[in-house]
Amino acid sequence: MQLDRDKIEAAIAPLRVARSMPADIYTSPDIFAAEREKIFLRHWFFLCREDQLPNPGDYRSFDTQGGPIFLVRGQDGVLRCFANYCRHRGSLLVKGSGNCGARIMCPYHAWSYFSDGRLYGCPDMQDAEGFDRKENGLVPLRIDSWAGFVFVNFAQDGPSLEDQLGDLPERFASHRMDRMRCTWTTEIEAGCNWKLFLENAMETYHTGTVHRDSIGAQTQRAIPTRGDWLCMQVLSRTSIGSLDRSRAPFDPIPGLDEDAREGTYFTLLHPLTQFAVAQDCMWWLNVTPLSADASRIEIGGCFPEDTVALPDFAERAAPYQERWLRVAREDIGILEDQQRALASALFRPGPLSGRDDMVHEAGRWHVARLLD
Ligand code: FES
Ligand SMILES: [Fe+2]
Repeated sequence: MQLDRDKIEAAIAPLRVARSMPADIYTSPDIFAAEREKIFLRHWFFLCREDQLPNPGDYRSFDTQGGPIFLVRGQDGVLRCFANYCRHRGSLLVKGSGNCGARIMCPYHAWSYFSDGRLYGCPDMQDAEGFDRKENGLVPLRIDSWAGFVFVNFAQDGPSLEDQLGDLPERFASHRMDRMRCTWTTEIEAGCNWKLFLENAMETYHTGTVHRDSIGAQTQRAIPTRGDWLCMQVLSRTSIGSLDRSRAPFDPIPGLDEDAREGTYFTLLHPLTQFAVAQDCMWWLNVTPLSADASRIEIGGCFPEDTVALPDFAERAAPYQERWLRVAREDIGILEDQQRALASALFRPGPLSGRDDMVHEAGRWHVARLLD
């Protein structure tokens, strides 16, 4: 991996004199490979909500930069995460999501595993010398959760999820996200680097132009954080979760603290996730990096249980989903153009605005890990 030290120094200089990142941070396959080792395989990353796998046997599979993995709820009710490959000759065990009952059977030679990962059946293995069933269970990943959000980590050691999240649980304590339910998810392909998408999600400098006809111009304030996350708040006492001005949004969450009533928090949970937390709901943008110039974005929406129980919930939630998808598509449009332009042989990093403060912070975090 070749990094232009002068350009990197300029990018991490104090904001008022800083330049944007050199283009290869977003375009180089070598840097992408280094990110895999130094970032994707070393940090906790968000997968989904616990309530998306409510029953024993429920599973969901994910393609990640560490390879295919899956979550499964055991017969004991415990959620576990495993590498998605068979210990015989490595077939993929599950695809998509569903319910596997008490056991998962490999579709290749019919080995089978208990949903807690232990190997159960392995036909015709009597000739294999030293073969021990106990040593051939599924390979687990570290898993932890906060307020119903499930995170996993490929590294077997290193900081806990609690350390990584820092003061995030405190900041969102009054939103009672443990009482929310995920009601909708969708995926979009984006022809841009994963970092471009998350930088864009952390500034309102572009909203008056890119989202002129949807959410429009916004003002933000920086929220100080402790831990591996960034936060800003877009100021509006009315929820900006929906674009439908013809009807009032859902009621605010009871007991919201004074700060939370002021607007919607936009966060970057390093490395790959944004939680947007409004007065009446939360939604996430979760990025799966595919290559230096391609990503998959999942959008997910959650509402408080009491809101979900309303008789007209589905009808009233639809404009929220439309807004999340529309705004993400508008962003991806501009980001795919930016990705193409960054490939210019004549590209030179540009000066930053005070309104790029979170972009600058995100870049500093990234570079510090890359150079580690
Ligand atoms: S690869 Fe799974 S049983 Fe052979
Ligand atoms: Fe945007």
